[in-house]
Amino acid sequence: MVSAAPTVLLTGACGYIGSHTWVALAQAGYRVLGVDDFSNSSPAVLPRLQKLTGQAPAFEHADVCNAAALETVFSSQRIDAVVHFAALKAVGESTAQPLAYYANNLGGLLTTCRVMQDHGCRRLVFSSSATYFNPVGAHESGLIGEEPRGTPNNLMPYVAQVAAGQRPYLQIFGNDYPTPDGTGVRDYLHVVDLAQGHVAALRHLLDGGDTLTVNLGTGRGSSVLEVVNAYAKASGREIPCRIAPRRPGDVAACWADASRAGEVLGWRAQRGLGEMCGDSWRWQSGRGC
Ligand code: UD1
Repeated sequence: MVSAAPTVLLTGACGYIGSHTWVALAQAGYRVLGVDDFSNSSPAVLPRLQKLTGQAPAFEHADVCNAAALETVFSSQRIDAVVHFAALKAVGESTAQPLAYYANNLGGLLTTCRVMQDHGCRRLVFSSSATYFNPVGAHESGLIGEEPRGTPNNLMPYVAQVAAGQRPYLQIFGNDYPTPDGTGVRDYLHVVDLAQGHVAALRHLLDGGDTLTVNLGTGRGSSVLEVVNAYAKASGREIPCRIAPRRPGDVAACWADASRAGEVLGWRAQRGLGEMCGDSWRWQSGRGC
């Protein structure tokens, strides 16, 4: 007898990382049931997921803080595991509205765990924001990618909009850091590598592996200037820059030690900065659509 593929509930399924993980899960053979409340995403991603996975997406419009809605989802079918992305993650906003962030992020997680427990579902991949490792890029098709609302806070989407002519120049927040070129250094990780890391973590749990905490990153830092140069090369566009004061709260350099993910999950980032910028540009310039 052939056993059915495990069914994975994906929360925050239509967001930037969620949508790429949906594709990676489907490609790995899992049945995906997506939930999202569209508070920071759009239903427009669903037909694109259908195109990428070749299947009509199984989807419920629901807020993970709503226990009754989750109860309905879990009662409708057997869920073998949950991959949890549904959360708010804007650092500035979180300091301005701490109670809203606690209520949403802790409330959503606890509600999800409680309903999982009630239904005997014990496998959870919890995707922490891991402030300072930086998911960037887009699916190679150019069909899905990051859609920041308003002015982007993060470097790569801002650079993308400057390259596209939507913004006149990039402000480089500080060029006097103790780094090789004076600009901030971060661990940029292709979002498809990140998605595949979540699939590897899920597989580990479904294979009976122990609970663990791992970093997902490339293990290598790139400076703001390196990102700008790589993006200019990938897009063939000029990226005007101006040096601005340091941004409050920024550290000089930060990158991941992802060795545990390699040892335990057999996962390593495959894509370099050039591919991150090239895929971001394909999405930004609408050439995949
Ligand atoms: C930020 C978030 C972090 C989140 C990550 C996701 C903060 C404090 N941290 O990290 O929680 O996980 O994004 O991608 O918001 N830079 C410029 N000009 C810009 C924008 C950024 O020079 O217009 C520089 C920054 O100073 C930094 C680097 O680019 O050196 C990366 O910045 P950013 O993309 O915002 O990421 P993080 O601050 O590392």
